[in-house]
Amino acid sequence: MSSRRDFMGMALGGFSALGGLAALYAMKRSWDPLPSVKAAGFTTVDLSGAQENVLNVEKWRGKPIFILKKSADMPADERDVVVGSDRFLIAIGLCTHLGCIPAYLPDDKIFHCACHGGEFDASGREIFGPPPSPLVIPPFKIDGTQLVLGEEGPEYIKMKEAGVIA
Ligand code: FES
Repeated sequence: MSSRRDFMGMALGGFSALGGLAALYAMKRSWDPLPSVKAAGFTTVDLSGAQENVLNVEKWRGKPIFILKKSADMPADERDVVVGSDRFLIAIGLCTHLGCIPAYLPDDKIFHCACHGGEFDASGREIFGPPPSPLVIPPFKIDGTQLVLGEEGPEYIKMKEAGVIA
């Protein structure tokens, strides 16, 4: 009997350790950048491996860049970066209130800034608290499934002309 209990304990212990590992892996993955190449102020990011509702954070000119592949239930927005049949939020990951880095809450599909409680939706638009404006969209160009940060492509110029980059 006791050996059976020991076995159950070991099995359950092993199971919860695996669960913990999976959670750690998921957490790390959500902050992993996608494959990217940096050169002369430009950062080229391959978007083909992006997963819906998983935040990827790239670094460009010392700033965190949020890359979020939107899921079908997230409303379309003129700030969406369209790549094939996918829609992305591409934004500088600094709160437009006082510059903290907001966290992404995948269950709520919002960004939450811990500094003063500001919130942004999955399109980067401010929805609560002190942020005065949406997350800023950095200069970008789309080349196939590659995102080039630092270059003003036609998609970015269109957004700039429409006044939606910030
Ligand atoms: Fe984000 Fe103040 S810096 S809410």
